[in-house]
Amino acid sequence: MINTLAEPGKIFFITDENIYQLHPEKFSGKKLIVLPPGEKFKKQSTADDVILRLIEMEADRDSLLVGVGGGVITDLAGYVSSIYLRGIKCGLVPTTILAMVDACIGGKNGVDVGVYKNLVGTIKQPEFLLYDYTFLTTLPKKEWINGFAEIIKHACIRDEDLFIQLENSSLEELIISPLLVASLIKRNVEIKYNIVSRDPLEMGERRLLNFGHTLGHAIENIYHLPHGHAVSIGMIAAAKLSKRLSGFTQSGLEKLSSLLKKYQLPTELKMDIEKVWQILIMDKKRSGNQMKFILLHKIGEGIVKPIGLDELSNLLKELN
Ligand SMILES: NC(=O)c1ccc[n+]([C@@H]2O[C@H](COP(=O)([O-])OP(=O)(O)OC[C@H]3O[C@@H](n4cnc5c(N)ncnc54)[C@H](O)[C@@H]3O)[C@@H](O)[C@H]2O)c1
Repeated sequence: MINTLAEPGKIFFITDENIYQLHPEKFSGKKLIVLPPGEKFKKQSTADDVILRLIEMEADRDSLLVGVGGGVITDLAGYVSSIYLRGIKCGLVPTTILAMVDACIGGKNGVDVGVYKNLVGTIKQPEFLLYDYTFLTTLPKKEWINGFAEIIKHACIRDEDLFIQLENSSLEELIISPLLVASLIKRNVEIKYNIVSRDPLEMGERRLLNFGHTLGHAIENIYHLPHGHAVSIGMIAAAKLSKRLSGFTQSGLEKLSSLLKKYQLPTELKMDIEKVWQILIMDKKRSGNQMKFILLHKIGEGIVKPIGLDELSNLLKELN
């Protein structure tokens, strides 16, 4: 299939050192760019390095860039492919749970600017997504935990049955059950795909996918938290706001908190609220004096609620 998108000599792969060391056979004989791993390399200078390598390797407009990795690599590959020569084709092979259920779907890509998450980027759909579950055999447990934050997010905003399924399951059971995991991933891909295909440019419904991410993104790089941990803490903060503003119940909050803890995700963080606020107000969901915050009406039903910045600031101070 891949050879119908570009000639073999014009297919360029990008991955990170961890993945390359664990799965060298997947890349044998391929034109490959290997990047250092981690969020701290998801920045413009790394994108520039990739572009220089593509120039050296004579990638042209007919080339295809394939990102093989977690969300950092899929975000970088999508971003570089959308700006190199004003856009070349791109394919994504997600290798973490988080990238499989979330990061590689929907076409959003980008890089961080200092502590500001994903401040620069584009929306460009890849030509293909390829799911190779054998990558998961080497995924460290902490990365499974990270990925489950986005799975729990999907359950919260759209799928109460999925929430109940997760309550009745466990990480330990899932890690050793490839078929169960494959069906769980498929269900999550469908949830995200259905939302983004109806609203590709995030004018409405797609905003729901930001549940937990407004505060999550603000604390992720300040406190050097894994993405899933930041989102988990952000979901609890958003659920507490939901209790105040959208009729979410105390029992809903307790269920969410128990589920996150069951999947070994953190629910609390002592934060410097002033510092967090300075980052939060740069969020892409801000419009003038309002922030489009994602709240829960109940488990399985997310809503978009514009909140005035003054009110939001006061509420966050009370929550901390
Ligand atoms: N574009 C989007 O819509 C979107 C959505 C959600 C998250 N994201 C982004 O995704 C990023 C987080 O993604 P992530 O959690 O996958 O992080 P990541 O890409 O940093 O991967 C996490 C770690 O796992 C390692 N790894 C990856 N696959 C492996 C494998 N199969 N075996 C062993 N180790 C492996 C990596 O080397 C890295 O150390 C964040 O930058 C976030 O902003 C983007």
